Amino acid sequence: MEDLDQLRDELLTAIAAADGLDALEAIRVAALGRKGRVTELMKGLGQLAADQRRAAGQGLNAVKTAVAVAIEARQSGLASAALDAALAADRIDITLPVRPQAQGRIHPISQTFDEIVAIFGEMGFSVAEGPDIEDDFHNFTALNIPPEHPARQMHDTFYLPENAAGDRMVLRTHTSPVQIRTMQSNPPPLRIIAPGRTYRCDSDMTHTPMFHQVEGLIIDKTTHMGHLKGCLIEFCRAYFEVPDVPVRFRPSYFPFTEPSAEVDIGCSRAGGELKIGTGGDWLEILGCGMVHPKVLLACGIDPNEYQGFAFGMGIERIAMLKYGIPDLRTFFDADMRWLRHYGFVPLEVPTLLRGLTP
Ligand code: PHE
Repeated sequence: MEDLDQLRDELLTAIAAADGLDALEAIRVAALGRKGRVTELMKGLGQLAADQRRAAGQGLNAVKTAVAVAIEARQSGLASAALDAALAADRIDITLPVRPQAQGRIHPISQTFDEIVAIFGEMGFSVAEGPDIEDDFHNFTALNIPPEHPARQMHDTFYLPENAAGDRMVLRTHTSPVQIRTMQSNPPPLRIIAPGRTYRCDSDMTHTPMFHQVEGLIIDKTTHMGHLKGCLIEFCRAYFEVPDVPVRFRPSYFPFTEPSAEVDIGCSRAGGELKIGTGGDWLEILGCGMVHPKVLLACGIDPNEYQGFAFGMGIERIAMLKYGIPDLRTFFDADMRWLRHYGFVPLEVPTLLRGLTP
């Protein structure tokens, strides 16, 4: 029988020198495999005399164990070296931006619409739309503003040229005609908001001929003034992201609501800087009221059975307040520098859960 010490040393040296898992496996097969050197020696034990067999068997077993242990140790050493190498090769620099910064910006008007839709959407309102070019009935008459009504003068209406039927269409002066269209084509209960463009023949520091409003309308059998107040107070808190913003309902007049109110929010103008929430000053942000029975009748809804509230709000104004935009006219200048400054990153969609503003 060959010298076991020498065999063991030879195998251990080879194992230590193995430079990869494949080489190590070859050594294992050559030593411990079915036809390996250690295995063959084991098979030869039977030919030895009984007294020699015992000592030789013990010696062989010791070699076998030593080789197996060494292979295992080398194996895990090689495996972790291979893992380290793979990890090192796979390295990515996670400090690099994921993708190039988006270049475009969402206009503050669109952002404000999205925020309003997110808030009222959570309250169960859906979004309704109507045409920018309206007829007299939807913009005025159905809203309890008959032809000779003085409220028509308040509206600085843009009239289109007379059509073949002798009627003059108008650019809608408010989003309230969407109330009428919604009630005419859907049975109550109703719960909608209607964001959109509106037009008045007026242009100065604080007025542009085209501006934006959002209308709100709820019609059912039980909604009352308390719901109106709760709904709009909740809106102000959510929109301005000031939980205790003071809200004041001031009696007012609109032909299409009775009673009517205007809503002011608390602010301070200390040091020439407008701050929403605290301070003794007030700022008007919207008009509202309980839908007038005559409006319900004009839409074929029985005012003895149904009631509800409506509100209308200027978008530019509440966007300017929230985002500190000082000049109304800059909204419509299409100035890229302005948009880069006041605009919003696309894909950061406002939700009440993640926060309205990024
Ligand atoms: N339409 C009114 C305006 O433009 C606002 C309003 C809407 C008021 C609905 C009451 C109810 O000023």
